[in-house]
Amino acid sequence: MRKPLKFGCRPNLRLKHAPYGGKQLQQTFILRNFTPKDLQRVMYINRVCLPENYGDYFFMDLYNRFPETFIVAEVNGEIVGYIMCRIELGLSNFCFSGFIKKGHIVSIAVMPEHRRKGIGYALVSKAMEGMRFYGAKQAFLEVRVSNMPAINLYEKLGFKVTRTIHGYYSDGEDAYVMSREL
Ligand code: ACO
Ligand code: ZN
Repeated sequence: MRKPLKFGCRPNLRLKHAPYGGKQLQQTFILRNFTPKDLQRVMYINRVCLPENYGDYFFMDLYNRFPETFIVAEVNGEIVGYIMCRIELGLSNFCFSGFIKKGHIVSIAVMPEHRRKGIGYALVSKAMEGMRFYGAKQAFLEVRVSNMPAINLYEKLGFKVTRTIHGYYSDGEDAYVMSREL
């Protein structure tokens, strides 16, 4: 069993190089790998936070194939956020260099009352470690062009808009593809 990572800092300690912009964290959160007993809670968070929802088979398939990039965040023993990804073979999002392995962030969400505490940042960072573990050279995702919180999060993590997909979402909204090297 790997030791869960602990995040957070003492209330009055302002870290100069804290990974979350030096913000003070009220509560400590931990990250750990998803396990099947987390399924209902993760599906609930997905429904509360995003219009793109999936059946249980979809979540379990990603867990079975790519367990190292399916991460949950816990506060006081309760799951408050998740990220799940897929490793794909595809063309580089930056240059013509043949086929490479790419880590695709399929879905990430943090419960509203736990946002702006660095949990999203930590989830993506941890998932990118998992992508590297699987040999991925780039990470990418699609995001609604109106989703400024998520776009800002990805930009803070070094992602750049590499493409726009018109009418990507079922309601017709466009998506940015955002990508970075790993
Ligand atoms: N407004 C502007 N910038 C924001 C906001 C916001 N509301 N929220 C986060 N950011 C940016 C900021 O730059 C922030 O850094 P700062 O707090 O130092 O300014 C940075 O992102 C990191 O923020 P975190 O606290 O790590 O992010 P959080 O834990 O709040 O999670 C998330 C961000 C996952 C986007 C959350 O808002 C959420 O669950 N939204 C609903 C679901 C969603 O949109 N998911 C992404 C869809 S795309 C996809 O799944 C591939
Ligand atoms: Zn996608």
